[in-house]
Amino acid sequence: MGIIFGLVSFLLLSFSLSTSLPADSSLNELNRVVNGQAIDISQIPYHAALRRKSSAGWIYTCGASIITTKALLTAAHCVTTIQLEPLQLRVAVGTSSRSGGYVYTVKTVYVHEQYSSLTLEYDIAMVVTSKKMTFDKKVDAIFIPEPNYNLPVGMSALVSGYGFTSQEGKASSVLQAATVEVVDQNICKSAYRQIAKISEGMLCAVANNPPRDACQGDSGGPLVTQNTLIGIVSWGEGCANISYPGVYTRVSEYNSWIINKLVLI
Ligand SMILES: *[C@@H]1O[C@H](CO)[C@@H](O)[C@H](O)[C@H]1NC(C)=O
Repeated sequence: MGIIFGLVSFLLLSFSLSTSLPADSSLNELNRVVNGQAIDISQIPYHAALRRKSSAGWIYTCGASIITTKALLTAAHCVTTIQLEPLQLRVAVGTSSRSGGYVYTVKTVYVHEQYSSLTLEYDIAMVVTSKKMTFDKKVDAIFIPEPNYNLPVGMSALVSGYGFTSQEGKASSVLQAATVEVVDQNICKSAYRQIAKISEGMLCAVANNPPRDACQGDSGGPLVTQNTLIGIVSWGEGCANISYPGVYTRVSEYNSWIINKLVLI
């Protein structure tokens, strides 16, 4: 249990990333959120940032992904303490830097009913804006996967965010992205067997030479391949430690949950 609690507190401080790109050769050249590289929002226009009201003003809190003109997906752990106070949250889109962008107020936050802060299962939430977002070259939606979406081991995907660029590093002021590869579920389970349970609703991804990963501040952000949001940055042991893949919410497992919320909007 101690290990789980330690992991969870790490998580709460931690991780958020988001990004996605069309599947093309430029993906292979990206190698940094840790060891990623700066990316322009026009390449990943589905990437959004959540900002939260504080005594110091509106501060960056997590990444998110645009899925319709009014709906974004993020991690439950990003918004669980704020779900009853949507006015404390804003969505920023269309920017490649931590500040600026088009800012929208939030009408509703749906946190998955079964989300567990102990196991980090069901780590998914939907944020609904008060007004429709205007789509352009820098603001656009990403597809969500069908329930049976095929995700072969080794497939490349792009993760993006404003999180730490090293495990003990500083948060990035510019949007960063990195390619990572889908890890076999059983290999991921055994990597984490002494720390946490990897469940069906989770997806693991890793990259080496140089090691690339999501890190603190990237939580809630997108993992994208083939114009599809396959993952949401959720948690991990450390950052860019190849013994411990990054763990993402497996979006295909939540297709019906997402559809059921979209019809309420
Ligand atoms: C990976 O994580 C383990 C456990 O936290 C740690 O002992 C090891 O030193 C880490 N490796 C690297 C390369 O950071």
